[in-house]
Amino acid sequence: MPGRKILTDFPLTPTAHHLDDYRARGGYETLAKALHSLRPEDIIQEVVDAGIQGRGGAAFPAGRKWQVVNPHDGQPHYLVANADEGEPGTFKDRWVLEYAPHQLLESMLLCAYGLGVRHCFIYIRGEYDRPLQRIQTAVEEAYAAGYFGEQILGSTFSCDVVIFRGAGSYVCGEASALLNSLEGKRGYPRNRPPRLTVQGLWQRPTVVNNTETLANIAWIIRHGGAAYRAIGTEKSPGTRLISISGHVAKPGVYEVEMGYPFKTFLEQDCGGVAGGRALKAVIPGGTSSPILPPDIIEGLSLDHESFWDVDSGLGSGGMIIIAEGTCMVRALAVMLRFYHHESCGQCTPCREGVGWMHRIIQRILHGQGTNEDLERLEYIAKFNTGTTICGLGDAAGAATIGILKHFRHEFDHFISHKRSLCDGRLELRCAS
Ligand SMILES: Cc1cc2nc3c(=O)[nH]c(=O)nc-3n(C[C@H](O)[C@H](O)[C@H](O)COP(=O)(O)O)c2cc1C
Repeated sequence: MPGRKILTDFPLTPTAHHLDDYRARGGYETLAKALHSLRPEDIIQEVVDAGIQGRGGAAFPAGRKWQVVNPHDGQPHYLVANADEGEPGTFKDRWVLEYAPHQLLESMLLCAYGLGVRHCFIYIRGEYDRPLQRIQTAVEEAYAAGYFGEQILGSTFSCDVVIFRGAGSYVCGEASALLNSLEGKRGYPRNRPPRLTVQGLWQRPTVVNNTETLANIAWIIRHGGAAYRAIGTEKSPGTRLISISGHVAKPGVYEVEMGYPFKTFLEQDCGGVAGGRALKAVIPGGTSSPILPPDIIEGLSLDHESFWDVDSGLGSGGMIIIAEGTCMVRALAVMLRFYHHESCGQCTPCREGVGWMHRIIQRILHGQGTNEDLERLEYIAKFNTGTTICGLGDAAGAATIGILKHFRHEFDHFISHKRSLCDGRLELRCAS
């Protein structure tokens, strides 16, 4: 068992996602209590004390983001649950939407009360049909029971929620592009400053948090920030939903206490590498987190500090297992095709640079690569970093630099022999 559980600590019966089941587990009791006994600033303080970091990729402390918003400044504020989940290999928010939708809604209500928010949004990935149905049903149930609407549970707090379906763009998961998309505009990321907590949706203070981040809030308010902080490690409090896919025996979504050893997780909980093959590499947190070879990752525990120490990250929790026999040149080609296709084209270094990297890797794959191509790939990847409005260009660069750092010999071999070093043609395939 990968440690203590917060989000998945209930039996997955066929009706577990419905309101009656959620209430039978104590659901919405925390909201009722909070509305009558806590001040908005108490909610924010508990989240600050919990030290929970964002689960969307950057691990920014949620409490620090929320503290920027003054719940009493008299202007409209907005809250958005980011359920776009476009990062390749990531499908853990989907689990929340399908199996714990009321946990998310109660958490959003507590957050809205804390931040003085009247209107909430759930921005959901366009491809997510069943998650959409589940969250829609949950919203209807919650409205019928009086948890949304005017003067909730006899308090002075009123709140509405709108579900907004995205159209399948990866960049619309980036918080500011998401807000533009919500406003009906093209999903282009915005320059900062101003921060979104100062000028976000319709230029009003807006908190955008990842779906998993938000789903933890009901537990935090129920048990207190200190109780949350006592779970996990000192620098990475709490648990993490990890969606594991690729060449793994038991793919799926697992809740793991921060600090749990990676090797135990892969071998005991996930059944090891599929078909008993040897482990070749792991992409730990979505393709935007640099790949790691076994000799590095097998010594790590699942927390942010361990992965940052080796120039990678737990990112969005989308772990991809890669077995021996997989061609790393093809693996990088898959990733660069994705980033090139998803670049919104607003910033030159990303539009041109990622396109250039994509063309170089295709050239190598077609047996026309040269040694200078590798230098060029590395140069463009480094040059892109930090020069674009959003992190998409950085992500493509990080994926490229990481794979060249650990598997350069495969690229050299491909260029000089015009074919892969790997005999087998295992493909890098991952769910997302
Ligand atoms: C290209 C790009 C795509 C992103 N996609 C997502 C996404 O699908 N879901 C998500 O929660 N965050 C995504 N993010 C991160 C968001 O911009 C933002 O940091 C996050 O939603 C904040 O929530 P958190 O602090 O709870 O993690 C993306 C960022 C970039 C640069």
